[in-house]
Amino acid sequence: MISQDDLEELEKKGYLDRAVDPTLDLFEEIESLKKEKNAVILAHYYQEGDIQDIADFVGDSLALAQKAAKTDADIILFAGVEFMAETAKILSPEKKVLLPDLKAGCSLAESCPAEEFSKFKSEHPDHIVISYVNCSAEVKALTDIVCTSTNAVQIIESLPKNQKIIFGPDRNLGAYLKKTTGRDLVIWDGSCMVHEIFSLEKIVALQAENPDSEIIAHPECESDLLEHASFIGSTAALLNYSKKSDCSTFIVATESGILHQMQKDAPEKTFIPAPPLNNCACNDCPHMRLNTLEKLYNCLKYEAPEMNLNQSLIYDAKLPIVKMLEISEKLGL
Ligand code: 13P
Ligand code: SF4
Repeated sequence: MISQDDLEELEKKGYLDRAVDPTLDLFEEIESLKKEKNAVILAHYYQEGDIQDIADFVGDSLALAQKAAKTDADIILFAGVEFMAETAKILSPEKKVLLPDLKAGCSLAESCPAEEFSKFKSEHPDHIVISYVNCSAEVKALTDIVCTSTNAVQIIESLPKNQKIIFGPDRNLGAYLKKTTGRDLVIWDGSCMVHEIFSLEKIVALQAENPDSEIIAHPECESDLLEHASFIGSTAALLNYSKKSDCSTFIVATESGILHQMQKDAPEKTFIPAPPLNNCACNDCPHMRLNTLEKLYNCLKYEAPEMNLNQSLIYDAKLPIVKMLEISEKLGL
């Protein structure tokens, strides 16, 4: 049998991606592998459309973490990025957690190395640490409460008004939370490359061409863009808003994968991806897009690459995630 190390080496070289027989119906093959292995596929809204369609559950970061904590499947195939698969492993360490491409990282998580964050934390000794889930397991282990864009406002507001707070790693979400809650947060200077690539000038021009449209944005976007948005929220909140709103055209300022579900849920409406600064596809997250249907198939077939974390890291990183889940449950989120 091929060892885990060998498989990871093959995966790194792109071999697993190439080895798929092109005549296979990957939808059928993945469905039967899922049944055979009692596996569940959890996918984020930023995955390509086919992956969202084959998934058992598609959601935002909070909903995916909640599913990972509760599933009775033996295998969780996480169609997302590293920090999401890490969170699933931390919450369900007894399960096999697979990530189709181990190189699927996150620019925001990378902008916050644990050693530097630890130093930052020690410079503010009387502060409690709230970290956005888009960070490494090592940063989570330095955190008091994890949050997502769905519950960040409520988690901050659940703390006493005089509680000093460090927020990391996203400076844009941090600034948005500071403004929304009125709390004086100490904010780590990190950001997501996808959400900082939008051109406000082009977005404003696009809205002038579509005068009945609304701009909707993820709070990882910069504050000048957020000021122009009719609605700000997590991917799930943006999806829900666009479905229920009376408006029929939306300029969507977040990763473009979300348009797949938006269009599916409201086929009569028009969704325009917010334009980036250059003529590139930079509002496609390069990490999320490393996952392909072929890699998902190989991942389930060979049960690799697998997410593995050491026990003490799992122990330390679990507490702040569980706190988030408990607060969210109390709030009905
Ligand atoms: P949410 O889906 O929780 O809004 O997160 C967005 C994101 O950036 C995930 O990488
Ligand atoms: Fe990270 Fe941004 Fe990609 Fe989300 S969209 S995974 S925050 S780089």
